[in-house]
Amino acid sequence: MRGYSMTTKIGIDAGGTLVKVAYLDNNNIEFRTFRSQQLDEVIKWITTNFERVEVCLTGGKSEILAQKLQGPTQTIVEFEATSKGVDYLANEQNLHFSNGFILANVGTGTSIHHMKDGKQERVIGSGVGGGTLLGLSYLVSGETEYEKIINLSLQGNRGNIDLKVEDIFEGAVPPISGDLTASNFGKLSKMMAEKPSKTDALASVIGLIGETVVTICIQVADTYQTSDILYIGSTLRSNSILAGIMNNYTKLRGKQPFFLENGEFSGAIGALLSI
Ligand SMILES: Nc1ncnc2c1ncn2[C@@H]1O[C@H](COP(=O)(O)OP(=O)(O)OP(=O)(O)O)[C@@H](O)[C@H]1O
Ligand SMILES: [Mg+2]
Repeated sequence: MRGYSMTTKIGIDAGGTLVKVAYLDNNNIEFRTFRSQQLDEVIKWITTNFERVEVCLTGGKSEILAQKLQGPTQTIVEFEATSKGVDYLANEQNLHFSNGFILANVGTGTSIHHMKDGKQERVIGSGVGGGTLLGLSYLVSGETEYEKIINLSLQGNRGNIDLKVEDIFEGAVPPISGDLTASNFGKLSKMMAEKPSKTDALASVIGLIGETVVTICIQVADTYQTSDILYIGSTLRSNSILAGIMNNYTKLRGKQPFFLENGEFSGAIGALLSI
């Protein structure tokens, strides 16, 4: 990347936890991620790698980052940037929604939007998101590193902690699918008899987050009379356990789940495209 003589266009989505960067390199979009607690690393990366830049910022920390970046910057409203980026990635990945769709951005928190005819409306949000994943995981396991948490959770068994409908009915025929979670973390007696492992606890934390987000999305999809739900956000990054839970649970509730490759960069791409 060194030796750029042209102006490089850079879109930055500086969120509560992670800074997502999308920039143009020979007409290809390239991606980088930094921690929001280390904004100086972003500045350092830009100044060491590029001679001249044109930057467009979005996300909750865009103002703080703009102050640190010497030189002029543009900003774009986060929801606008995200929907621009989502449209771009969906097109590129041949995803087409004929009757609008629900967009859930599972970031530090979760925000849920209705998208139709090129317009977006923020419908609702939830504090249950990727920050919850990190925070609750720390409380139940002492682990703080995202990748390690995900890898450990893959080895866990939610059956030792989460109560299913079939557990309550004990063999009788339930009125709803016995496979549904009746109560996340609901198996108190079992847990008191034998303390669940760290891996089980982490798997259940992820189950709680996935099912809570999907439940809200299902309700929103019903309200807006669409069956398609698109999930983005870095919480889904290299996170097959969360994506799997959200995929299965959305289908179980009769809706169609979608995931975008590089979906966590939607805001950064939208910012880049608006330069
Ligand atoms: N390397 C990583 N380090 C920390 N968290 C990570 C990492 N990779 C993925 N995550 C997960 O992604 C979440 C952040 O997602 P995302 O980057 O979409 O949010 P954000 O844009 O920073 O926050 P918001 O949009 O809510 O302000 C974290 O809370 C964590 O669960
Ligand atoms: Mg974000």
